[in-house]
Amino acid sequence: MIIAVDGPAASGKGTIARALAKRYGLPHLDTGLLYRAVGLTVLREGANPENEAHAMAAVDFDEALFDDPELRGDEAGRAASQVSAHPLVRAALLNRQRKFARQPGGAVLDGRDIGTVIAPEAEVKLFVKATPRIRAQRRHAELQRRGSFVSFDKVLADIRERDARDMARATAPLKPADDAVLLDTSFLSIDAAIQRAVALVEART
Ligand code: C5P
Repeated sequence: MIIAVDGPAASGKGTIARALAKRYGLPHLDTGLLYRAVGLTVLREGANPENEAHAMAAVDFDEALFDDPELRGDEAGRAASQVSAHPLVRAALLNRQRKFARQPGGAVLDGRDIGTVIAPEAEVKLFVKATPRIRAQRRHAELQRRGSFVSFDKVLADIRERDARDMARATAPLKPADDAVLLDTSFLSIDAAIQRAVALVEART
């Protein structure tokens, strides 16, 4: 069984994907980390994430980055969004994600284009969403917990900018697959969102 979980930043898709993987004993891939690793490598080289050639020079990034705390930070997120708009970068990361999705026994992947591009054959496709303001509140609270004091307005502006870039790009834009089920987490607790996701998986399998 392949479960595809897509959605914008801070929608809850990562938490939901991890919970589903645990529940069904499936391996999980957070595909955003691949783009983050490329973005962070470009930044550390002093190169420009908006330049496709610079980004391509970073697609064979060091896997040790997966343990780097900065990978989950906002700088890496912004650079990820920039490098992920380049078609060559997306193509370079495609096989790795497809292979993960098609391993025997199945997998859970979360990202932006899992249901549309990486695994259109997935048995279950969830598109997780929440209003920009609510996602910004979650991200703001998380940043504060980690000791990083950015203003709420800045976080909201960042979320809107990332949404716009992810939705507007020509290659694999952020959008629900035609056969995806929408899950709006705006007014759901984490537990309630997970329960809803489990019910949707059970209904589809
Ligand atoms: O999900 P996360 O915030 O870690 O993703 C970082 C960025 O990577 C996103 O803003 C998006 O631009 C890009 N991304 C993507 N396709 C994916 C996963 C992430 O374009 N499958």
